[in-house]
Amino acid sequence: MGARVLDGEVVAHAIRQEVAAGVADLLARGKPRPRLVVVLSGENLASQVYVRNKIKACEQVGIDSELVRLEGNLDGGRTLSTVQSLNDRSDVDGILVQLPLPEDADETRVLHALDPGKDVDGLHPENVGKLVEGAQGLRPCTPSGIMELLQRSGIAVEGTHALVVGRSNIVGKPMSMLLLHANATVTICHSRTRDLPHLARSAEILVVAVGKPAFVTEEFVKPGATVVDVGIHRIVSPGQAEDFFGAGSRQLAALKSGRSVLVGDVHPRRVKPRAGALSPVPGGVGPLTIACLLKNTLQAARVHRGLPAQR
Ligand code: GUN
Repeated sequence: MGARVLDGEVVAHAIRQEVAAGVADLLARGKPRPRLVVVLSGENLASQVYVRNKIKACEQVGIDSELVRLEGNLDGGRTLSTVQSLNDRSDVDGILVQLPLPEDADETRVLHALDPGKDVDGLHPENVGKLVEGAQGLRPCTPSGIMELLQRSGIAVEGTHALVVGRSNIVGKPMSMLLLHANATVTICHSRTRDLPHLARSAEILVVAVGKPAFVTEEFVKPGATVVDVGIHRIVSPGQAEDFFGAGSRQLAALKSGRSVLVGDVHPRRVKPRAGALSPVPGGVGPLTIACLLKNTLQAARVHRGLPAQR
C-alpha cells in the first residue's frame, strides 16, 4: 500500500473557484476589480517562470495584474522606490515582490517598505506580528496553502505532533505558527538539528522545506505519517531519476527523452510505501501557493474597499 496522494491541483481548483466567486461579488457591488502588481527584479530564470504562472492565474479568476520588470543595471534602490510608488497608487490592492532579490537589493528594507495592507506575501513585520498573535492579517501563501491542503483533505491536525524541517521566514516559521494555531504540538528543525531522522520519526505530520533534492528518506518517517513536500528541484541525471522514481518509472523515460523532470525535498520512491499521505511534486504544494496568492489579493481588495475580510 502506497501513501495517499494529497492532490494540490484539486484543492487549488476549489480555492480558485471561490476567489472567482469573490471577485464576481465585488463587481456586483459596483466595486472595482482587484489588482495585483508583481515586481520582478533581476534575471532569475525560475522566478520568471513563477511570475508568469502568477500573472496567468490572476487572469483566470478575474483579478487584474501588472508585471513591473526591473532589468539591466540595478541599483538596490530601484526596487525600493518601485514599492513606494505602488503603495501610493490607489488602484493597486496587492504588491508581490518576487524573491530572491538581486544581491545589491536589501530584501529586509524592501519588505519593510511595503504597505502591510497590500503585502499579499504576508512578509511585512506587521503581518508577521498578526500571524503570531493569531489576529486577522495577510499570511504567507505557501504555509496557508498547506493548511488548506491538510484541512480540505481531511487530515486532522489538532493534538498531533507536527514537525517542520526548515526555518525560513517565508515557509518554515509561518508554517509552524499556523500549525500551532490549529492546535498541533510543533517542532521546528533545521540544518543544525541533531539526529533529525530520529526526531522526525515521532511526527504525525511532517512538512519539509529544506531545499535539498530527495533529502527526506524513509528513516525520517513514522509509518502512516502525513508528509508535505515544499521542495522543487530539476533532476539532472538519469541516475537520479532511477534512484528517486525507479528503473521502470515514467520520470526516467521522460528524462531520457529530453523532457524536464522535477523532484521535491522528499525521496518519493523510499517514502511512498511508508507514509500515510504524501503531497506530490509537481502538483502538490505549488498550485496551492498560487491559489492562496489569489485569495490574499481578494482579501486585500475587500479590506481596501471597506468590506470585511473573509476566511
Ligand atoms: N520566491 C519563491 N516563492 C515565493 C513566494 O511565495 N513569494 C515571493 N514573493 N517570492 C517567492
